[in-house]
Amino acid sequence: MVKKPFRIGIAGLGTVGAGVVRVLQSNADLIAARTGRPIEIAAVCARERTRDRGVDLSIYSWVDNPLALTEIKDIDAVVELIGGAEGPARQLAEAALKRGCALVTANKALLAHHGYELAVLAEQQGAALMFEAAVAGGIPIIKYLREGLAANNIKAIHGILNGTCNYILTEMRETGRSFADVLKDAQKKGYAEADPTFDIEGVDAAHKLCVLSALAFGIRPDFEALNVTGISHISAKDISFARELGYKIKLLGIARRIDEKITQAVEPCLVPADSTIGAIEGVFNAVFVEGDFVGSSLAEGRGAGAGPTASAVVADLIDLARGFHILPFGVPARTLRQAVRGDAGDLLSRFYLHLVVKDRPGVLADIAAIMRDHNVSMEAVLQRGRDPDKPVSIVITSHPVRQADITRAVGQMASLAIMKEKPRLLRIERF
Ligand SMILES: NC(=O)c1ccc[n+]([C@@H]2O[C@H](COP(=O)([O-])OP(=O)(O)OC[C@H]3O[C@@H](n4cnc5c(N)ncnc54)[C@H](OP(=O)(O)O)[C@@H]3O)[C@@H](O)[C@H]2O)c1
Repeated sequence: MVKKPFRIGIAGLGTVGAGVVRVLQSNADLIAARTGRPIEIAAVCARERTRDRGVDLSIYSWVDNPLALTEIKDIDAVVELIGGAEGPARQLAEAALKRGCALVTANKALLAHHGYELAVLAEQQGAALMFEAAVAGGIPIIKYLREGLAANNIKAIHGILNGTCNYILTEMRETGRSFADVLKDAQKKGYAEADPTFDIEGVDAAHKLCVLSALAFGIRPDFEALNVTGISHISAKDISFARELGYKIKLLGIARRIDEKITQAVEPCLVPADSTIGAIEGVFNAVFVEGDFVGSSLAEGRGAGAGPTASAVVADLIDLARGFHILPFGVPARTLRQAVRGDAGDLLSRFYLHLVVKDRPGVLADIAAIMRDHNVSMEAVLQRGRDPDKPVSIVITSHPVRQADITRAVGQMASLAIMKEKPRLLRIERF
């Protein structure tokens, strides 16, 4: 007996939405063979009906209001690809789940801010909430963590979660150009949005880390619990000094469990140039997971773009059409704990410190004295340029020190009259 089609409504026909339509059209036979039934688009929705989206939409019903998708008779799943933590995306997600309709979304902002409430609602209504596409695009990291590594106590996750930042940092390193220059180029090539704030200030990576932490540690996604620093302050000189010291600069998302406390941060870090994570270049993403039995494992792939993201959305639809879904965060949502925040100040790390100072005798001695007073011990010092009329760069790497101690030391240095720029302090991570 032929099973009836799995009927979906798609809201949002931008990069990802149009990509999903393309995958469903191009691979319709293969998908039907794998699910045992076709996936049928019942209706689509976006703001501008007449816009050319590079796919044939004439064969589908069109609705102007995303909420109308939830009212279509026999609809099996609603696919939310509008974006944003509030507004139409949130309204649609809630309306679909309230009706007991499965929701598939790629919206990490929505999940980072409202993932807990949506998961509770989904479970109350017996509806599926699927979000494979929300983190690391084409890398099936949600399934990997929630199902593949379900036997493990996860100790840490660290990863490159934003392709735009990784592209910018890679280009800066390879060409020696400035952040602003490379960003402009990335926007022209479509690797960065017209408004790149969420990407370059680390917010997008933080949204994703929230979702991964929830899955890994059984905690509620809580955006406010993260320390977030972006890459807009990284200079071509930092990249060049890092190279000289044998490192690359990467924007990392890092979540660690230490004594049941969880620290979560997104920040640019130095990683050894010859390390596995140092080799992840351009728009690629990578996620490292450390479990008590699996050890350290790595998933790498394209983190964004129409193809990889649509591939992940359709993977969720295939699961649903096969009749398969599990709880959104792998455990009953009500059992997700409010995370106890670890104190980042207690973390012991090596650091890179870049000071731009007026070149005069005794500068280094003053800086060394401040470091000594705060229990910070230096590993290496680089000084470039000798010109009493121009500021010079001093770069220091530290031995492992408490973050709180070095932060206080840098605060004191920043107030010295010889300091010509805000000191740049970056963590050195050797995973
Ligand atoms: N782009 C990626 O590589 C990527 C990767 C992973 C996850 N995601 C996530 O996927 C989601 C979609 O991203 P995207 O890049 O495809 O965004 P996008 O290109 O900006 O597309 C957004 C779509 O939503 C539609 N829309 C906006 N407001 C609407 C409203 N009130 N009613 C109906 N439709 C509305 C827009 O309609 P019009 O076209 O008519 O303006 C557009 O088609 C976001 O949550 C994003 O974070 C994106």
